[in-house]
Amino acid sequence: MTGLAPVVGVVGAAGAVGAAAVAELHRRGRHVLRLAGRRRAPLDALCHGLAATGGPPPTVEVLDINDTEALHRFCTGCDVVLNCAGPAYLVEDRVARAALASGADYVDAAGDDVLWEQVEALVARVPGRIAVISAGMMPGLSALLPRYLAATLSDRPRRLLGYLGGRDRFTATAAADYLRVGEGFGTAGAALTGGVRARQPLPTRTDAELPFFPELATAVPYLSTELERVARSLGVTDATWHSVFAGPHVAQVLRQPPAGVDAPEALRRAAELDAFGHATYQLIVVELTTVAGDAQTLVLRGDNASALTGAFAAVAVAALTEGTLAVGPHHAGEALDPRVAVDLLAGSAAVSDLTVFDGEAADVGGHVEEAL
Ligand SMILES: NC(=O)c1ccc[n+]([C@@H]2O[C@H](COP(=O)([O-])OP(=O)(O)OC[C@H]3O[C@@H](n4cnc5c(N)ncnc54)[C@H](OP(=O)(O)O)[C@@H]3O)[C@@H](O)[C@H]2O)c1
Repeated sequence: MTGLAPVVGVVGAAGAVGAAAVAELHRRGRHVLRLAGRRRAPLDALCHGLAATGGPPPTVEVLDINDTEALHRFCTGCDVVLNCAGPAYLVEDRVARAALASGADYVDAAGDDVLWEQVEALVARVPGRIAVISAGMMPGLSALLPRYLAATLSDRPRRLLGYLGGRDRFTATAAADYLRVGEGFGTAGAALTGGVRARQPLPTRTDAELPFFPELATAVPYLSTELERVARSLGVTDATWHSVFAGPHVAQVLRQPPAGVDAPEALRRAAELDAFGHATYQLIVVELTTVAGDAQTLVLRGDNASALTGAFAAVAVAALTEGTLAVGPHHAGEALDPRVAVDLLAGSAAVSDLTVFDGEAADVGGHVEEAL
């Protein structure tokens, strides 16, 4: 990277996550932005919105990522390419391949175990490059925040309890990826007990009172491969994580997803119904308990998952262009310095509150509507 402002290319820039990441990068003003997407009108509208906030306007290119030549041209001259095009299971490593082959480093807002294997192999073939995947809410913040909280403890954590979710919309793209997530990221109903997977699957709880959540919700226990790695690295032996959905329609679709191609649209519509007439929100609640029995609880609140994902993707881009990451492949939530990343996140428009409390989540954040 030269002494000039690093050039960051954002692919899928006008999508929900892409636009949030672009807004965050533009607000910080440390990068020259080059935006790409399939349609000009949303890209122009995005730039128009950014113009109102000042700073140099990004350049815009209309391309389809299936056009390999156009994608290579776009990536050439970029220091970093951030991919926000999806669904991730269709994009796979297409943008990563073009970015790394063009001499740029790479960040992806998405990233399951399949993408990790692909990107790991790509980076091994292109020495000197950095690739950061899983720079979203989950995977992403779901790994960063436990690491941040662990650093505030006076002793080694033994037990981790987490809740992530809320009442929120899904884009059709995010819904398609969400419904496939079990195919390469983790196991519903699983948890860690004594350092190994619990034998008995944990049940999904409906109409559950959950700490800090302002309403009854469905809590689905979910053990991701990301959480297993984080638990191992922190020395946590007992870990239970829940995906949380408030509102009856999403819960119903997840209980009985319609078969085939209709499922993402059904999930998108269900989330729309659940959000209708409500303010959307996302919460991440992480509780860590030390060997001595002391507990700390971190709570992050934002308006929606797309904005939180875009904000964390922008933080990952900043970590990369500031030279804080070693050459090679990384998971964002496991590689970024948690204190620096949390400082940046706390200043982003996507995060409305980020607080660490002394004590267990259930004690400090019982069912407390007025606290939110
Ligand atoms: N880790 C997390 O917590 C998390 C949370 C939310 C989302 N995500 C991930 O973030 C990604 C983006 O999701 P989103 O909600 O922002 O979706 P979105 O709003 O639908 O945006 C996707 C963008 O990608 C563009 N795109 C799709 N196919 C393309 C192609 N062939 N060539 C060029 N551009 C293409 C779309 O352009 P058009 O509009 O022109 O089609 C659109 O602008 C997904 O992979 C999703 O799973 C991760």
